[in-house]
Amino acid sequence: MFKAINRENTYTTKYDGAKKKFGTDDLLPLWVADMDVASPQCVQEALQKRALHPIYGYTNYPKNYYVSIQNWMQKRFGWQIKQEWIVPCYGVVPSLNFAISAYSDEGDGVIVQTPLYPPFVSSIKNKNRNVLENALVYAHGKYSIDFEDFENKAKQAKLFLLCSPHNPTSRAWDKKELARIVDICVSYDVLIISDEIHADVVYEKTHHAIGAFEKIMQHCVVLNAPSKTFNIAGLNTSYAIIPNQKIREAYIVAQNRSGITNGNPFGIEALIAAYSYGEDWLEALKKHLQSNIVYVTTFLEKEKIPIVPIKTEATFLMWLDCKGLVMNQKELVDFFVFKAKLGLNNGIDFGYLGEGFMRLNIGTSREVLEVAMQRLLLTYRRNI
Ligand SMILES: Cc1ncc(COP(=O)(O)O)c(C=O)c1O
Repeated sequence: MFKAINRENTYTTKYDGAKKKFGTDDLLPLWVADMDVASPQCVQEALQKRALHPIYGYTNYPKNYYVSIQNWMQKRFGWQIKQEWIVPCYGVVPSLNFAISAYSDEGDGVIVQTPLYPPFVSSIKNKNRNVLENALVYAHGKYSIDFEDFENKAKQAKLFLLCSPHNPTSRAWDKKELARIVDICVSYDVLIISDEIHADVVYEKTHHAIGAFEKIMQHCVVLNAPSKTFNIAGLNTSYAIIPNQKIREAYIVAQNRSGITNGNPFGIEALIAAYSYGEDWLEALKKHLQSNIVYVTTFLEKEKIPIVPIKTEATFLMWLDCKGLVMNQKELVDFFVFKAKLGLNNGIDFGYLGEGFMRLNIGTSREVLEVAMQRLLLTYRRNI
């Protein structure tokens, strides 16, 4: 069911953009966060049906779009939301930018937890806000939150950009951890902007939508999308859930100022189909991804390659601790990209705390990962 499909010559970032990214396309691309597997049948059919109508003009968001999101939030995360809380958006990263503009001024402090998916920090810097870095603590192969530091940062902050689940560490935050964050943010009047784009792919734990915490519900913005989950990131369709009316209106003003106001007819159809009929597919996908994670982890261990994957609690992205290879970052990239011919993300792109790490996208078939692991093994043996 989850075979890797040849994506070359479809203008894909991952394959066709590999040369620009790595300086070579003679590699197996295992980087940008989309998958090599087909979107669910229900999504394909909805898009094909829409494509048959030959006019692709300006499009409104139908009632069913809102209802699909409401139902998904309820059944997946137990969060009951009202239709008017939902604001259609064009991508989570654009929304992070609009939210920063809406709720802060130049020089204001914005907390982030690093290492981190790069657009968080760049969005803050591009708007001349002050990045307040709450570095995650890495100990015994696990990342956790330094709450004392978080509280100190909260005293100086206006916003907290939460990444939940967290990219690249793949942490699915526990309810206890989130409750503590909520308490601190409420105490110091810090607005939480929560990027929950990876919420659907959490393995053994439960995802807790931040807006479902009663205490913060009126003081948060939740950003989500079916894009990662159903492999439809190219359709640029996401949404914000903002329970508080004033906060919602401020977001809408910032978004409208960007000049984008219409929906994407294909994105709307895909979202409705995925959320209405895609649940079984998602459960099967999670099993497939989990077995890929086990495969990679076991392979590295069995072959005694000194690369240790952080336990992948969520996402289809494995965060690999490569410090055991005893290479500097340049050598590490050279080892993966030019020697093993594997296009992984450079850990340092996620901030200085990513030094010694690489990020591996396992959202592909087992066969592709087998090729990748064999190349890694051969290169490792040749280089020791
Ligand atoms: C945490 C996180 N947020 C946002 C995005 C991108 O979202 P969008 O394509 O909706 O802007 C990604 C993609 O990798 C991501 O990992």
